[in-house]
Amino acid sequence: MTRRVLMCEPLHYRIDYEINPWMRRSNRVDGARALAQWRRLRESLEELGVSVELVEQAPGAPDMTFTANAGVVAGGRFLPSNFRFPERRPEEDHFIRWFRHAGYAVETIHLPHYWEGEGDVLPAGDRVFAGHRYRTEFRALDHLEEALGTELVRLELADPRFYHLDTCFAPLGGGRALYAPAAFTTEGRAELASHFDDLIAVEPAESLRFACNALVVDRRVVMNAGCPATARALRERGYEPVESATDEFIKAGGSVKCLALMLDAFVPEGAGAP
Ligand code: ARG
Repeated sequence: MTRRVLMCEPLHYRIDYEINPWMRRSNRVDGARALAQWRRLRESLEELGVSVELVEQAPGAPDMTFTANAGVVAGGRFLPSNFRFPERRPEEDHFIRWFRHAGYAVETIHLPHYWEGEGDVLPAGDRVFAGHRYRTEFRALDHLEEALGTELVRLELADPRFYHLDTCFAPLGGGRALYAPAAFTTEGRAELASHFDDLIAVEPAESLRFACNALVVDRRVVMNAGCPATARALRERGYEPVESATDEFIKAGGSVKCLALMLDAFVPEGAGAP
C-alpha cells in the first residue's frame, strides 16, 4: 500500500550484462518502447493519486530504473542497499545522493553483507517479510533487523528466476497476498500460510509474467498486462487490477513493482518523512 514512490526514467536502460536468468545481452531493449511503457506506468500511478518523485538515471547504471533495489525507506531514514553484483554497485552513490539531498538520514548496513532493499524486504500488516539467498544475504538481515527495530519473517527463495522477494510475493493488505508457490521452499510456504488468511497462488505461467511484481494502491493492484487469471482472482476479492505493459523491463527481470520504491510503506506518511 503506497501513496508516494521514487521512480527513475529509463533514459539509459540497457541489457549490458547478465546477472539473472532473464537477462540476455542478445535480447536488446527497444529504448523508445521501454520509455513509453515506463511513462504510461507513471501516468497510471499518478491517476491513482500516487505522488511520484524522480531520480535521474546515471548513464553508467543501466538497471537504475529498478528503484525498488535502492534500499528501504523508513520514515526519514534511508537504508541503502549493498548490491550483490558489482555491475549494480555504481547505483549506490547516486541513490544515496538523492536521498541526502531530499533530507533523509542515510544509515548503511554493514559491509560486506549484501542486500537489495525493497526488492527483498516488504512490509505486510505489522510484520516485515524478507527474502534471501540470491541477492540478499541471511546475515545482512540481522543488521537490517537491528536498524528497523523489528524481527523479520525470513523466507528462503528457491528458484533463481524469482531472485528477489518482490518477483514472487505481493502483500495486498487485509491478510491477503499474491505469491508464486514454486519460488519458495516448503518451510517458506508454510511460514507464509501462517501469516495470511488468504494466500493467492498465482499460476506458473502468470508468475513468470511477473504477476506478483505488483504495486498496491488501496484496492487497486497495478500489475503487468496479460495476467488474466490473476486479474480475475483479484476482482473476485474486490480489488481492481490495473494493467500496465512492462515487457521491455521483463527482459531485465523486472516489472511494475521493481520500477518503484515506496517512500511511505515502512513508516506511515507524515511520521518522520522529510
Ligand atoms: N536487472 C535487474 C537485476 O537483476 C533487475 C532488478 C529487478 N528488481 C526487482 N526489484 N526485482 O538486478
